[in-house]
Amino acid sequence: MPAFTDHLFVCCNQRAEGHPRGSCDPEGTEALRNAFKAELKKRKLGPLVRANSAGCLDQCELGPTVVIYPQGI
Ligand code: FES
Repeated sequence: MPAFTDHLFVCCNQRAEGHPRGSCDPEGTEALRNAFKAELKKRKLGPLVRANSAGCLDQCELGPTVVIYPQGI
């Protein structure tokens, strides 16, 4: 298997309702990660670009958070 060219980490952290920091995946369904995975597959990028679930990326106040490496976006 070739090395990945890009790696997406999608925050799927879930906190209790009403938590002051919020939660990127309040329902715990990983819907955002699944949407990235489906889009990567549709564009045939799957073998080289991977979307993994991640815990809190400490950017909770910005809403659902994704980081992309190696770009560091
Ligand atoms: S809960 Fe997603 S960045 Fe913190």
